[in-house]
Amino acid sequence: MTNVLYFDNAATSWPKPPAVGQRMAAFLDSEAANPGRAGHRMAVGAEKMIDAVRKQLTDFVGGTDHHRLVFAMNGTDALNIAMKGLLRHGDHVITTTLEHNSVSRPLVAMAEAGFIELTRVGFSSDSGVIDPEDIRRALRPNTRLVAVTHGSNVLGTVQPIAAVGHMLRQINNGRTRFLVDGAQTLGVVPIHVQTDAIDILAFPGHKSLLGPTGTGGLYVNTGVTLDELSAFREGGTGGDSSSPTMPRLFPYFLEGGTPNTVGIAGLGAAVEFVVAHGPEKTLAHERAMVQAIIDRLADNPKVTIYGPKSAANRVGTLSLNIEGYTPQEAGGILDESFSIAVRPGLHCSPYAHQALGTFPDGTVRVSPGHFNTNEELNVLLNALAEMAD
Ligand SMILES: Cc1ncc(COP(=O)(O)O)c(C=O)c1O
Repeated sequence: MTNVLYFDNAATSWPKPPAVGQRMAAFLDSEAANPGRAGHRMAVGAEKMIDAVRKQLTDFVGGTDHHRLVFAMNGTDALNIAMKGLLRHGDHVITTTLEHNSVSRPLVAMAEAGFIELTRVGFSSDSGVIDPEDIRRALRPNTRLVAVTHGSNVLGTVQPIAAVGHMLRQINNGRTRFLVDGAQTLGVVPIHVQTDAIDILAFPGHKSLLGPTGTGGLYVNTGVTLDELSAFREGGTGGDSSSPTMPRLFPYFLEGGTPNTVGIAGLGAAVEFVVAHGPEKTLAHERAMVQAIIDRLADNPKVTIYGPKSAANRVGTLSLNIEGYTPQEAGGILDESFSIAVRPGLHCSPYAHQALGTFPDGTVRVSPGHFNTNEELNVLLNALAEMAD
């Protein structure tokens, strides 16, 4: 499969830095026991490794207490742990039409069951950005949660999370919690839970953090107490076995079951790579590629590019359509005739596509990443132009 030109990094990044696989193999061959605080030396070694990666990720997101970094299976899992842990019957939730189904579906299911009230605010189709004032206007006395994606996985546009976070702290400090979905941004756009006033940050490890699939997590900021949360998943915690229910301790309260130790070892190597390389350099590289696509195709009457015609406020993600092809046909031709991997369809974000007028077929999503080269980009640009012509 190495002859594929991979432009589907918004789904999961590929390839991974070589150190990721190497670290996973080394861990698997040495200390891959079930982590346990009171166990034998291999178990203690596995626990130490997990603790070290917790610290790495906590530093990376500007956290102060690494026990509040909870590992999860992916972004979806982390978001479910946060939302289902926090929400109680009768709560009001505000979210946006840019959300991925991993935010939307749990909230819609809870709203349809009469458990919560749900408000969805829109975005500007020109800028691809939400207006924090719309959130302010939607606040109610019982608004318990505002859930916002930091980067749209359809348009790539980066949302003003710090403005939303600070507005919520000013208005009703602590009553409304702010959940940020960092799936498309963590690893390229700086996120700092303190300066961005985030209460809970959820993220996958396998996108811009460049880690393996099966990893993700959430950071629960220090203002949020365990009393506000319920355990989404209950089971063994590798310690405190005498407690009849989940021990009321971060991170174990939110982490039942054997963790993905091998994946977490790989995630540690990935974060080291990301930090050493400099997320800002990767972001600049991705933006330059997105800008090159816009510059080459925006004036082509057969191509529609969605969202702003500048990459300045985007991550490496762009949606387009080519006249005469459904997104599925275009994606199929790019795959079969040009060996280029892109993602056609709705990208698990049906409300964004409804707002853009691209529902139900969706768009062709092109998402360059850290490892894409200019040569690959040129092949992609020529293929898209050839198809349009
Ligand atoms: C914006 C956004 N949120 C959440 C997710 C879910 O992440 P995961 O696939 O790791 O569950 C994705 C995945 O594409 C995403 O793009």
